[in-house]
Amino acid sequence: MSERAHLDKLVEKYESAPAEFQATSYWNAYKKPILETLRNVNLKDFRSGKHPILGTFGFNEYVFKKVGSWPLRFRLSLHALRQFIVRDVSLIPYSLDIDDTREMAYRHCDIYGKYTGSRSIADIGVCTEGSPGDLFYFNGKPYSIPFLSYYIRYCFVNKVMNFRGDEIIVELGSGSGHQVEILKKLYPGMTILCFDLPSQLYICETYLGLALGKDALVSSEKCIEWTDLSKIEKGKVHFFGNWQMPLLSSYSFDLFWNAASFGEMEPAVVRNYLSYIKNGAGNVYLLQAEHGKETHRVHTPIAFGDYSKWLDNFNIIAQEKAYKAHMRLKESGGYLHAVWKKK
Ligand SMILES: C[S@@+](CC[C@H](N)C(=O)[O-])C[C@H]1O[C@@H](n2cnc3c(N)ncnc32)[C@H](O)[C@@H]1O
Repeated sequence: MSERAHLDKLVEKYESAPAEFQATSYWNAYKKPILETLRNVNLKDFRSGKHPILGTFGFNEYVFKKVGSWPLRFRLSLHALRQFIVRDVSLIPYSLDIDDTREMAYRHCDIYGKYTGSRSIADIGVCTEGSPGDLFYFNGKPYSIPFLSYYIRYCFVNKVMNFRGDEIIVELGSGSGHQVEILKKLYPGMTILCFDLPSQLYICETYLGLALGKDALVSSEKCIEWTDLSKIEKGKVHFFGNWQMPLLSSYSFDLFWNAASFGEMEPAVVRNYLSYIKNGAGNVYLLQAEHGKETHRVHTPIAFGDYSKWLDNFNIIAQEKAYKAHMRLKESGGYLHAVWKKK
């Protein structure tokens, strides 16, 4: 199947799925621009920052992000110029520069990895295909700040789960696939099932083919035709449409993972997804804004506390403020992440 036909097939299957699997207001707004971008994207530079829409689900691998409207940006530039040239003062505290920020981020990972008994960040590096805008080297290995930030999430979970390396992990809303890249590079024996909306799933699979090699994957071209999970291949990464979540109803696995994703949906949709994994998942990892996403595009925000109600057959075993490698996740008043274990 050509790449174009592959993407079209995923979109077609999604369009004919029941209403509870259609994107809600927040993500529906991104549907068209993401699809149009993917139809024209060049794999040589899809991570360069040239396509900011891809940053909405994890390819935000750029150093500077445009903020505000043109007039606001113009006023900010004037202010910066006055501060810097006229008054000759530093713009950033403690004379920090970008290399300092990157080194601190790397050292945060190094220390947090040791504290949590995790495999070392020094053992892995980020894929360099697709011209990531934020690419730097430390001790000869390539990194980006987002890649280091996904490593921090792994460490948090590993502290309580102490991964053996042969776990089965299900991620809903895998986005760019960076979390899977981290897990599979550290634990090649893990079996992973990614579920997502069609365009995101397509580019996630493309990226992980570059990052891990196509032999490590079972393509959505196959998986979207499955009516049960009997053909899961141990040690491989599989790709499913979000509408296939009911396949998990009678499937046992070690960990369900959802990050920066449920909080952008509506409560009924999230409860429906949780109903498919409540019986089979041994553990659940969730990350989202503590009091819900602060945007009118989410109609009924989900607070972190709601999950304890919905995951009534689980106990929370770890909860912390969520951090990226270089800063706290402060958006929407602050993010939390937590691990629940089956009672
Ligand atoms: C902000 S991105 C986060 C991606 C990744 N988990 C991360 O932490 O970078 C939100 C993810 O949730 C997915 N998503 C949004 N609405 C969804 C829905 N109704 N069903 C399934 N996935 C959805 C998006 O496609 C996207 O992959």
